[in-house]
Amino acid sequence: MIVSPLMTVMVDAVRKAARGLKRDFGEIENLQVSRKGPGDFVTAADRKAEATLREALMKARPGYGLIMEESGVIEGQDKTHTWHVDPLDGTTNFLHGVPHFCISVGLEREGTIVAAVIYEPIKDELYLAERGKGAFLNNKRLRVAGRQDLADSLALYGSPYLGRGSHPRLLKELAAVMAVTGGVRQTGSAALDLAAVACGRADVYWERDIKTWDMAAGLLLVREAGGFASSADGGADPMTAGSVACGNEVLQRELVAILRKVGG
Ligand code: IPD
Ligand code: CA
Ligand code: CA
Repeated sequence: MIVSPLMTVMVDAVRKAARGLKRDFGEIENLQVSRKGPGDFVTAADRKAEATLREALMKARPGYGLIMEESGVIEGQDKTHTWHVDPLDGTTNFLHGVPHFCISVGLEREGTIVAAVIYEPIKDELYLAERGKGAFLNNKRLRVAGRQDLADSLALYGSPYLGRGSHPRLLKELAAVMAVTGGVRQTGSAALDLAAVACGRADVYWERDIKTWDMAAGLLLVREAGGFASSADGGADPMTAGSVACGNEVLQRELVAILRKVGG
């Protein structure tokens, strides 16, 4: 477990926002039956969670900048620190009453992610990492899975929303990965996919067209759990490339080789 003033700030903010999200998720079932569905309600829940996080983080670290999914970029006086915040990752799941979603908060210091919190309210699973101090799930130290053969592996992927990214390219990648792995899944939460690789529940994960708030925290979890992460094409920085491929050292390298071979 990591005990530091920074972690306390992050965990308090995330837990506070999670209480509202959990309450709102409880309402979703009642709204499914309406013709319009719970769309506006979910947007409001998302915004409320973001406002709670923004307020708590700005109060605790007034100078830091923020990059948030709903509010966009909020410049801080301290140009060396930026929070990357997704108040609700897994929106489509939430909207449909599927209990697989989380809050993700990562802190970047001069281009390096140094602290991460991902919280899954329904399972009460809290993932933490600080650079150089390891990654933890509910106080238990995390290690990526050790499998060395893709044929035994579970692979996760994400697909772009309708109208964004390239579905044809993903289908080609999927065919190539499916042909050599033990199983392939799409969960609907990029942050939890990264967390799953960090704790060894999944072996590899890749996705294109994702944002810094989707991946900042999860990337640190993976790396602090001994895993490797690059862009989907093998580039050094997923955050600037907007894509990710991760896993243990061996399988991550093999995944990238497959994705490169498929090409654009
Ligand atoms: C999305 C989820 C999804 C991923 C998308 C993200 P949202 O975030 O992480 O798994 O495939 O790329 O945009 O919209 O639920 O916050
Ligand atoms: Ca997201
Ligand atoms: Ca979101």
